[in-house]
Amino acid sequence: MKRSARRRLVVPAYAKINLGLEVLGLREDGYHELRTLFQAVDLHDDVIVELCASGVTVDCSHPEVPCDARNLAARAAQALLRYSGLRRGVALTLVKRIPVAGGLGGGSSDAAAVLMALDALFELKLGTTGLYPIARRLGADVPFFLFGGTALGLGRGDEIYPLRHQIESQVVIVEPGRPVATPAVFRRIDAGLTPRENSSTIYRFVSSDLDGSAAFQILTNELEEAALEEAPELASVVRRSRTLMRRSGALFASLSGSGSSFFGLFDQANSAQRAVERLRGAGMTAYRCRTVSIDRYRKTWERALRLAGARPAWSQ
Ligand code: C5P
Repeated sequence: MKRSARRRLVVPAYAKINLGLEVLGLREDGYHELRTLFQAVDLHDDVIVELCASGVTVDCSHPEVPCDARNLAARAAQALLRYSGLRRGVALTLVKRIPVAGGLGGGSSDAAAVLMALDALFELKLGTTGLYPIARRLGADVPFFLFGGTALGLGRGDEIYPLRHQIESQVVIVEPGRPVATPAVFRRIDAGLTPRENSSTIYRFVSSDLDGSAAFQILTNELEEAALEEAPELASVVRRSRTLMRRSGALFASLSGSGSSFFGLFDQANSAQRAVERLRGAGMTAYRCRTVSIDRYRKTWERALRLAGARPAWSQ
């Protein structure tokens, strides 16, 4: 492959949902000690990464995405340029499909995609291990997107342990169309937070012999109450979504992260489709997607990188 063919990459940036989220306490660094189960889903943004002579630019037509230095994808490009010491520029184009500030990790995923794409384009050979500390400094959700699949997130949510058992499921997402500010939700829980040494349900989930819907029933999202206090108009969307998803056969239904997106897991495509139709019939924005295993996540990346003549970091 000619070198010039490596100057532009188009890569998918998948969304995540949190299958469970427990808040154990406030840390000295101001963040919260979490136990969460991340799951990648195939709802995705497209990130186009082009090398240029100098500077970092972002082009994105979404009205709520800043195109300046506040953009997390731009900060990821700056961080990698600084780290590598290369005197180059990067032009980013973000095609947004993941709702913004929706608890689905869109901005963090775009940032991780930029790190992995630039690692390949610049042939830095950092791989997941080398990119991990850079990802961590960008945000607590960014490291997960270096892995994808089903993974346990500890610490700030940035210590990632991929699970041997990868969850395969249909997913229905309801998008309330109302962003929720994560810091405000965390601040609200602080008043009633009783620090705990450890969590019970996430560990039971990953280590138990429970299966199917019985396993999911023990999971909770401890940010839900605070998110609904922060955005009271979400309460009725959440209540109606949960009811309609359960009636349609959902194995599990929950708010993702600090919201506002709400999701349901289904083991049958037809019950997921039924849920989407019922939710849309009730006036909600809902769509279907599927979980992405760690293998599929890697293979999609490998395909995107090889198409552009670049080599994936993890195969180096
Ligand atoms: O790391 P990131 O900037 O994505 O986190 C957004 C905000 O969420 C933080 O500024 C913080 O208020 C809150 N947060 C937290 N504890 C975590 C993760 C996020 O308090 N473990």
